[in-house]
Amino acid sequence: MDRLINTDIIEEDKLTEDKLRPQRLSEYIGQNRMKEMLSVYIEAAKKRGEPLDHVLFYGPPGLGKTTLSGIIANELGVNIKITSGPAIEKPGEIAAILNNISEGDVLFIDEIHRLNRQVEEVLYPAMEDFVIDILLGKEAGARSVRLELPKFTLIGATTRVGLLSAPLRDRFGVVQKMEFYTPSELSQIVKRSARVLGVEIDDEGAMRIARRSRGTPRLANRLLRRVRDFAEVRFDGSIDSKVADYALDILDVDKLGLDQNDREYLLCIMKKFGGGPVGLETLAAALGEDSGTIEDVIEPYLLMNGLIQRTPRGRIATDNAYTHLGLERLGQQSLKL
Ligand code: ADE
Repeated sequence: MDRLINTDIIEEDKLTEDKLRPQRLSEYIGQNRMKEMLSVYIEAAKKRGEPLDHVLFYGPPGLGKTTLSGIIANELGVNIKITSGPAIEKPGEIAAILNNISEGDVLFIDEIHRLNRQVEEVLYPAMEDFVIDILLGKEAGARSVRLELPKFTLIGATTRVGLLSAPLRDRFGVVQKMEFYTPSELSQIVKRSARVLGVEIDDEGAMRIARRSRGTPRLANRLLRRVRDFAEVRFDGSIDSKVADYALDILDVDKLGLDQNDREYLLCIMKKFGGGPVGLETLAAALGEDSGTIEDVIEPYLLMNGLIQRTPRGRIATDNAYTHLGLERLGQQSLKL
């Protein structure tokens, strides 16, 4: 899906995201409950001189899973090695990675639900007992040798926690859900990013960007960069509400942060399926979109804003969705839940 508000990381984000990432827990805005818990776990682990328990972060993309992992390593004063599920193809590759880290280090595996079964099986004893079993030789002559590993912390991140196998999920001592950010938190993030980028922005300008960033810092930072372009070319370079609204209207991100794809999704339920309920697969086929993408990328934000409901019989567009799009519900819809 190619869209401005797609929360997947794009090349341009990578260039600025590293610069914008906070390095310390105290600089990190939002996810307050999680920050509080993490700070306790980090301090306890440091006091005991032990590695932190393995941590699993899950939730929609762009909410700061990678950023938090870097912060945890910084706070612990250890190195972080970053890889991803699809990047590790063979058991030998994960064994080599594990063998190369130092005592206490953090191994971050993004998209951990995409690890294959054989690689996962190397991880089980590694996570539980800090050992790996390596098979030497072939067939009748094969024997297994046990290799001790330095004690490490695995941090896994996933947008699809439902796809994680139970044995892997159970080996994480800390499992944390990332929440969408409030407009006020996002506006603080926008102001902080503007400071780092050297852009002048006022409170209302930051709030306008925040409100249209669908609860997601990655989008807030991306919209900030786009609005900055308009500010520099069409205005005097600084961002206020007028500049922000002007740019955001051109960028086709509406007042709730919905874009063309969200609107198409809602209109499809309303116009083709009478407002629902309609099953996910049917909806996916009608939209020509992958059902996983719909579930992980489009729906979470619409659900949070009360624009749709998920029921046992399928998806329903709510009255809020009709109001937002300026449409009337046709016929009598009874919501038998
Ligand atoms: N940049 C991206 N996410 C952030 C966050 N949660 N706090 C501060 N800066 C950020």
